Amino acid sequence: MEPVARPIPSGATAFDRIAPVYDRTRGPLDEATGVSLAAALSTRGVQRLLEIGVGTGRIAGPLTARGLRVTGIDASRPMLTAARLKGVDRLLVGTAYRLPFRSHSFDGVLMAHVLHLLEETSAALNEASRVSRNGVFALVTLRDDRAGDDGSPREDDLRSLLHALLVAEGVELSPFRPPWRKESELLAQFPPTELVPISDRTLTEPAERRIATLELRGYRNLLDVPPEPMARAIAELRSKFRDRTITSRRIYALAHWKVPPARPHH
Ligand SMILES: C[S@@+](CC[C@H](N)C(=O)[O-])C[C@H]1O[C@@H](n2cnc3c(N)ncnc32)[C@H](O)[C@@H]1O
Repeated sequence: MEPVARPIPSGATAFDRIAPVYDRTRGPLDEATGVSLAAALSTRGVQRLLEIGVGTGRIAGPLTARGLRVTGIDASRPMLTAARLKGVDRLLVGTAYRLPFRSHSFDGVLMAHVLHLLEETSAALNEASRVSRNGVFALVTLRDDRAGDDGSPREDDLRSLLHALLVAEGVELSPFRPPWRKESELLAQFPPTELVPISDRTLTEPAERRIATLELRGYRNLLDVPPEPMARAIAELRSKFRDRTITSRRIYALAHWKVPPARPHH
């Protein structure tokens, strides 16, 4: 019998579990992205902003520090608790599909690293558009070659390698698809009015930092992996990559839909 792939825990339930390690596994928003994102929103008339999927306030915090008035909504209470502990306020629990606000309440609505998680992209974009005066924005990753294409992974793509090691250990996992691939596909399906470049960075980091991040299981597909195969796979990565550094490029852009996208392009 074919093994049944373990389903990836979905949306908010998964983030309830990821919340304690989220900030340690993502790191703070880098300065260049924060400056550029705040400027792109401000020059498009956005001062009062709603961030959907605000999470731990990783984006809302720096935007608030740069003068935007941010309200955050998220389906995961533990993610919001982490945001509150960092001093981010104006937060509420709720879903992207039904926003508890009157029409046109905000200058703009932002989703940051959320688009790829939505089961009903079209419905969420339409609902976001309803409460906004200047359309919907999404901070998206156009490229992150730490996690390359599943078709041709880099030799040092540790997330894909961990996935392959776990499958070799007999762990039933759904095929790994880098989130940025999914986001790129969504942009093709729902073409934005404009795609504003935000940042393009090439970073070199110790492989050990990346391995420690994976070990914390801050990603949905790792949440339910049993401890023993996980420990063996992580040990294998450490033995191969311990003293190495990894150089990779990350490109962020701000998608802007001035009017709600009617229906997906296929
Ligand atoms: C990857 S995190 C991004 C958090 C933050 N925007 C950032 O960039 O660090 C995705 C967040 O979206 C939230 N989320 C996922 N689906 C959602 C939905 N349908 N409605 C509201 N929030 C949702 C999750 O709970 C999680 O906190």
